[in-house]
Amino acid sequence: MEVKLNKATPEQLKTTPASMSGVVFGTQFSDHMFCMEWEDGKGWHNAEIKPYGPLLMEPSAMVLHYAQMAFEGLKVYRTDSGENVLFRPRENFKRMNRTAQRMCLPEIDVEEVLDALKQLLRLDSAWVPHESGTTLYIRPTIVATEEAIGLKVSSKYLFFIILSPVGPYYSQGFNPVKIMVSDKYVRAVPGGVGYAKTGGNYAASILAEKEAKELGYTQVLWLDAVERRYIEEVGAMNIFFVIDDEIVTPQLTGSILPGITRMSVLELGKHWGLNVSARRISIDEVLTGLKEGSVTEVFGAGTAAVISPVGVLSYKEEEYQVGNGETGPIANRFFEQLTGIQYGKEEDPFDWVESF
Ligand code: PLP
Ligand code: COI
Repeated sequence: MEVKLNKATPEQLKTTPASMSGVVFGTQFSDHMFCMEWEDGKGWHNAEIKPYGPLLMEPSAMVLHYAQMAFEGLKVYRTDSGENVLFRPRENFKRMNRTAQRMCLPEIDVEEVLDALKQLLRLDSAWVPHESGTTLYIRPTIVATEEAIGLKVSSKYLFFIILSPVGPYYSQGFNPVKIMVSDKYVRAVPGGVGYAKTGGNYAASILAEKEAKELGYTQVLWLDAVERRYIEEVGAMNIFFVIDDEIVTPQLTGSILPGITRMSVLELGKHWGLNVSARRISIDEVLTGLKEGSVTEVFGAGTAAVISPVGVLSYKEEEYQVGNGETGPIANRFFEQLTGIQYGKEEDPFDWVESF
């Protein structure tokens, strides 16, 4: 794929943040973006790296009405030796194609898009922050752009990648968060789009997240939509429990996102010889275990959230403290190892990181 390069003029170049402390996640964007278009009969074309800026789109563009879209989230890490690396980037673009299939979007060529991303990253490499725990967050997105408000498959699409320097996703950093289990709303149903990374899933979660925040919780833990009994995932991360000697996460049933961090935690745990599993976990099992002490740790896993210990779970207005409310040793071990591999401090036995 030939990528046209339209560099920002010196006047268009922005200054990179001097420090990431106090910068709210996902509010700053780099100098350039990658765009390409798709049209029936033409396929993907007009691949271009150009200055970051507004998109030209008619108000009738289909994505603005029916949310036919897909997005991804991955990061660039600056290692101690000054190299910039990606973490399992092909997994993100493969997942984007699985979302594309569900949302009737045209698929992308994983290698071509990865190559275009690397060109963009080389151009905007000064935007990869250096401070500990910071990264350049990458947001690839496909949206339906045909100008039509009938409900159908769009005949035109735009794919773009934008870059955002970020610090921790939660203001707490790597400190335990408080999570509210939702028994009022559900996020995704069997046969629905829960496994797809598409805007509608997140739009449907905002009210519950807003109500949880008003009550002092960071995010919502979703239960299954049928029985409202089995644990699914948190708003922006998958969830793990340490129950006796088992490290367990909900199995993939089609209504949760198959997280790349989740997969990496499972693979790391297996590699260490720990008892890791993916199975159905009921809310009763967790709450009883928290009361009786068999559930010793709860933590989330996601690209933005990294490994996020959970200190308190709330269900039906009752709060359950996890252990002593502090980060547990297992969450800590996964955090240290995963970020160690990502920032080049630890060996990478799985070849997960990729420089460019
Ligand atoms: N679940 C949801 C709903 C998410 O938004 C995310 C974040 O991407 C995850 C789980 C974790 O997925 P990953 O580890 O691939 O970032
Ligand atoms: C990510 O972790 O990459 C996500 O996409 C979550 C998003 C809500 C920031």
